[in-house]
Amino acid sequence: MTIATESKTVTYKELGFVNTREMFRKAMKEGYAVPAYNFNNMEQLQAILTACMKSRSPVILQVSKGARDYANATLLRWMGRGALEMIKEMGVPVPVALHLDHGDSFEICKSCIDSGFSSVMIDASHLPFAENVALTKKVVDYAHPRDVTVEGELGVLAGIEDAISHEKSNYTNPSDVQEFVKKTGCDSLAISIGTSHGAYKFKLKPGEAVPPLRFDILEAIEKLLPGFPIVLHGASSVPQEYIAAINKYGGKMENAAGIPVEQLRRAAKSAVCKINIDSDGRLVMTATIRKVFIEKPGEFDPRKYLGPAREELIKMYMDKNEKVLGSAGRD
Ligand code: G3H
Ligand code: 13P
Ligand code: ZN
Repeated sequence: MTIATESKTVTYKELGFVNTREMFRKAMKEGYAVPAYNFNNMEQLQAILTACMKSRSPVILQVSKGARDYANATLLRWMGRGALEMIKEMGVPVPVALHLDHGDSFEICKSCIDSGFSSVMIDASHLPFAENVALTKKVVDYAHPRDVTVEGELGVLAGIEDAISHEKSNYTNPSDVQEFVKKTGCDSLAISIGTSHGAYKFKLKPGEAVPPLRFDILEAIEKLLPGFPIVLHGASSVPQEYIAAINKYGGKMENAAGIPVEQLRRAAKSAVCKINIDSDGRLVMTATIRKVFIEKPGEFDPRKYLGPAREELIKMYMDKNEKVLGSAGRD
């Protein structure tokens, strides 16, 4: 009996993913942003795919280091592969990129590139400028001969970037961006203009409004890098209806706040071509599961609470594509 084997190295083109180059070119030209949604499990992946097929949106499936540790890197990669098969069977071939989110070393980027990722982020933004340049360039030099696109980062977001926690934002300095892009050859640039990771983006006093994003910094960067794709991390809007549901059904999330959707709409029309959203998906799942647990305390079949969570996630992702990012109908 022969057993089919495959070589350890597999390219994303063999699998059917696309890199982000054409995605961003179209997004820049037409004034919308491509959604980059994180997944860690089957229900999240199904919801992202279903929502993006229903709204005919291109999509960047993001895998963080934490997701690889949680779900197993090999299994996640095969889930990505399964996603493409599912899309083919459904007959709605939306473009899909498989992207490493917040890669923190050359080795993890290489491992993802060698196992079929079409795009990687090297996040060396916490390092001094010269070291950030050197590491980002090293990743670009490995990625580009394989036609994999690379996202670099300049400036530091407050909150948690994988295992690294930052107390305060360190806004991107526009005077650094030209040199960074020229020296590294990266394909897109994540910048810090006031967004942050997680569900607690602002420490607000009662009645205080969310401070606006630093569109002045974004505009300065757009002028210095005309037509260059910009990425916004930490772009969850932390919908208050889900926070209220979590609190109503036994949770405790006080003072959670996110980026107002109008500001994301404005960013999506600019040079921002990729908008990262993870926390909103976590909130939707948690709110829905908590509700089922309280309303049906006898329920013990995971499909009976993960299924409703998946349905609610589909609605949320469709809403983002259609009403916030403008990516619906751009497949
Ligand atoms: O930017 C961080 C993403 O939300 C991924 O989070 O590292 O907990 O998977 P994680
Ligand atoms: P949020 O925590 O705002 O969803 O940001 C996600 C993110 O930036 C993933 O890289
Ligand atoms: Zn991020």
